[in-house]
Amino acid sequence: MRLIFVGPPGAGKGTQAKVVCVKAGIVQISTGDMLRAAKVAGKLPADLVTKMAAGSLVPDDVVISLIDERTKAPDCANGFLLDGFPRTAPQAEALGKLLAARGQALDVVLALEVPADLLIERAVLRRTDKRTGQIYHLKYSPPPPGADLEHRADDLEEVVRKRVETYEAMTAELLPYYEGLGILKRVNGVGSVEEVTGRILAALGEYLAR
Ligand code: AP5
Repeated sequence: MRLIFVGPPGAGKGTQAKVVCVKAGIVQISTGDMLRAAKVAGKLPADLVTKMAAGSLVPDDVVISLIDERTKAPDCANGFLLDGFPRTAPQAEALGKLLAARGQALDVVLALEVPADLLIERAVLRRTDKRTGQIYHLKYSPPPPGADLEHRADDLEEVVRKRVETYEAMTAELLPYYEGLGILKRVNGVGSVEEVTGRILAALGEYLAR
């Protein structure tokens, strides 16, 4: 299964992707995680570090090249879930071309829908365990004692608001593009993590059964 999760910052893409990937036996590929790992390794150019901290997108060619390389790896042979890519029409077109060149296609694009007022609270109170990558929320999924927690540089309230605006502007053409291809499924992302997981698994039922 080749699957994309689209959704605004804090919608729950990363949280839900981990569950779906275990269930489907596919790998999760998050461009945000790849860029943050490059930053920690000192390999992300300073101008891109600044862009990310400000809540702006990095250039299309940077993420397209990351995805081109990563999806060629042997662990992607069984399929993959792209979390946070593509975000723009040029990224979507580049992905379509690179998959077509390999004789592959996308199965489904799942849009996780959450209203803006909930997104701010979800992102600002998010904490991630540096060692395990596990995502917590100080109110809804509290971390266990002893977790080595990190607060993302772009999870400050004003930056999250900017990211939501960026998402809305840049993806206005992305969802109609996939709707036109007939592979878009919209899922309500409001409710407990378990409720949302149930809706996602129901929406993906026919693909998971293959
Ligand atoms: P990225 O890392 O992709 O961030 P994002 O898309 O903004 O998404 P988030 O990681 O903030 O949220 P999420 O939907 O994964 O939510 P989560 O599951 O953690 O991108 C970061 C930056 O990298 C971008 O701004 C850009 O600069 C750059 N970038 C990345 N990809 C790019 C691309 N393709 N092109 C250009 N630039 C790119 O959940 C959030 C919180 O809510 C957690 O605390 C969680 O515990 C909680 N939660 C989850 N579900 C629920 C629920 N149902 N109820 C209550 N709480 C919940």
